Amino acid sequence: MSSEIVKGNNEKVIDLSEKMAANYDKLLDLFPENSKTGYDTEALPTIWLQKDEFNNLMVSTSNKAREFAQLAASLTGDELKEAQKNLIWSSCKACHDRFRMPH
Ligand code: HEC
Repeated sequence: MSSEIVKGNNEKVIDLSEKMAANYDKLLDLFPENSKTGYDTEALPTIWLQKDEFNNLMVSTSNKAREFAQLAASLTGDELKEAQKNLIWSSCKACHDRFRMPH
């Protein structure tokens, strides 16, 4: 797949997905050792026990958000929704199921 993004009608979707990808890159640094407790956190302690796995999920979510941004250039309607479900929502759930308190 070309890394060049062709912007079509879905310009907003593409922009937001790219921002999201960049945010997940930043989030990698936002769970330092000293943030394990306090701050009213819903983050589970397992994050710091399985930090590699947690970080991998962050990276993969970031990559998938980028992939989605590219797909959004050519998809519309149900196809776009399906791609969003597969690439975005499934990534949120994969991490929340394991690393976030039930809420
Ligand atoms: C790699 C792990 C991971 C991924 C991927 C992830 N989350 Fe989370 N999310 C967390 C953790 C951990 C918390 C709890 C953070 C806390 O309370 O400090 C959280 C909390 C949240 C919250 C509550 C924030 C708050 O202020 O309490 C929302 C909303 C949320 N996530 C949405 C999403 C969405 C939408 C996605 C996908 C686009 C996503 N998350 C992907 C780990 C993840």
